[in-house]
Amino acid sequence: MVKICCIGAGYVGGPTMAVIALKCPSIEVAVVDISVSRINAWNSDELPIYEPGLDEVVKQCRGKNLFFSTNVEKHVSEADIIFVSVNTPTKTRGLGAGKAADLTYWESAARMIADVSKSDKIVVEKSTVPVKTAEAIEKILSHNSKGIKYQILSNPEFLAEGTAIEDLFKPDRVLIGGRDTPGGQKAIHALRDVYAHWVPQDRIICTNLWSAELSKLAANAFLAQRISSVNAMSALCEATGANVTQVSHAVGRDTRIGPKFLNASVGFGGSCFQKDILNLVYICECNGLTEVANYWKQVIKVNDYQKSRFVNRVVSSMFNTVSGKKIAILGFAFKKDTGDTRETPAIDVCKGLLGDKANLSIYDPQVTMDQIQKDLSMNKFDWDHPIHLQPMSPTTVKQVSVAWDAYEAAKDAHGLCILTEWDEFRALDYQKIFNSMQKPAFVFDGRNIVDVKKLREIGFIVYSIGKPLDSWLKDMPAMA
Ligand code: NAD
Ligand code: UDX
Repeated sequence: MVKICCIGAGYVGGPTMAVIALKCPSIEVAVVDISVSRINAWNSDELPIYEPGLDEVVKQCRGKNLFFSTNVEKHVSEADIIFVSVNTPTKTRGLGAGKAADLTYWESAARMIADVSKSDKIVVEKSTVPVKTAEAIEKILSHNSKGIKYQILSNPEFLAEGTAIEDLFKPDRVLIGGRDTPGGQKAIHALRDVYAHWVPQDRIICTNLWSAELSKLAANAFLAQRISSVNAMSALCEATGANVTQVSHAVGRDTRIGPKFLNASVGFGGSCFQKDILNLVYICECNGLTEVANYWKQVIKVNDYQKSRFVNRVVSSMFNTVSGKKIAILGFAFKKDTGDTRETPAIDVCKGLLGDKANLSIYDPQVTMDQIQKDLSMNKFDWDHPIHLQPMSPTTVKQVSVAWDAYEAAKDAHGLCILTEWDEFRALDYQKIFNSMQKPAFVFDGRNIVDVKKLREIGFIVYSIGKPLDSWLKDMPAMA
């Protein structure tokens, strides 16, 4: 029986390994992590992450050929193939701080593999890493090898949260990069055989190591760039009376462009896009490619602009101040169908409104009060470095409350901001919400999910990203 071990039981390691176990009953899969609470959760009925369809997959395999454990050394030493799926956050200190990937977790995993291995291993980079990381990992492993042979493969993950199981069942492609040597090619074949249990051969792309590593950063940069492009257009739409939904529909009908990923929003979030583009920018700078670095930096600048533009719109519409006013925040996760809040635009929007002394009442169907408080007290880039977490300041504690549902959040509020596109926000009784709010009642839709015409008929003053402006908003000055 082939044995697989995955180091890192997070958003990628957990679902990816659960699907491998489901699709390959002849393979034993152990997912290991240094976090005891995470592993305990994977072994319980309350999985540590919310992902549609994940529960069923885990229930079918757990205890049969899928195991979650904190006994990292044992499972690593027994495995034939080791996936490394640890976090690779942005560095917060030292050389490259604010841009470069922090490979501390990766390096410690590699050193541990070298320490405990007693047989030859295939080590697979599942985490997103800077191009050429495999070379560094090879050095760590070969300098500590005790005669053991290691083959390093790059097999980046393309799943998106909220659709992880669907993406893993039917991936657009699986990418495997390896050395162009007999040993490297043998390792590529061994990993290809794992995926071939359910992925059609023509969807498995094999490349050299550096192409695989760079393709992951490139794919995320291209995707984020599409969102910044449509978000840049949304600002122009508001200024001209065009409607961004109509523009992106018309643009996306060009088969060379395609319709997906053209939804204007309050900004992209998530643990990957910003981190990976910053990483790309840093690599370009290190290679002396300043113009290329500046090109990609702009994708992040437009994203930051979109978030602050939204905050400015809220404040300027409400007579240029939200001080002491209750603002309902609907949605805190970075997208629907996940409880993940890493780099969610809601953090920047909430911090912007808190900076103007608003009182926030926040509701999200999947995010806990504890998580919201942590997020609002964190400094930029600290989200993936648990060690830097700070308690929320006493003033912020007073300004933030968490509601059990959207109606409670909106009661007596002056304004309501929709920051995540949860389906339940489309189906709310907006008349009931209007009746319970202060007047004039404002809705700021950061995800373009409400029926603007209907809400205006109810009596709301409505702002929806990139849509023709309410006459009220047109008359308000001081827009950034
Ligand atoms: P995560 O933070 O959810 O999980 C990482 C896990 O690794 C944590 O549970 C941590 O405790 C564990 N860990 C860290 N060092 C360890 C060590 N030395 N030994 C054992 N366990 C260790 O991160 P994630 O979202 O799963 O992302 C993992 C990687 O995959 C990152 O590089 C990310 O960029 C990439 N990625 C993420 C996504 C996504 O949607 N989240 C998608 C594609 C790629
Ligand atoms: C992304 C990539 O899609 C995935 O391939 C990679 O493996 C990890 O990073 P993820 O961040 O989980 O996945 O979700 P994604 O669906 O890409 O959304 C990212 C952000 O962009 C979210 O905040 C989402 O709301 C936003 N978005 C997405 C838009 O604002 N408009 C869109 O049209 C699409």
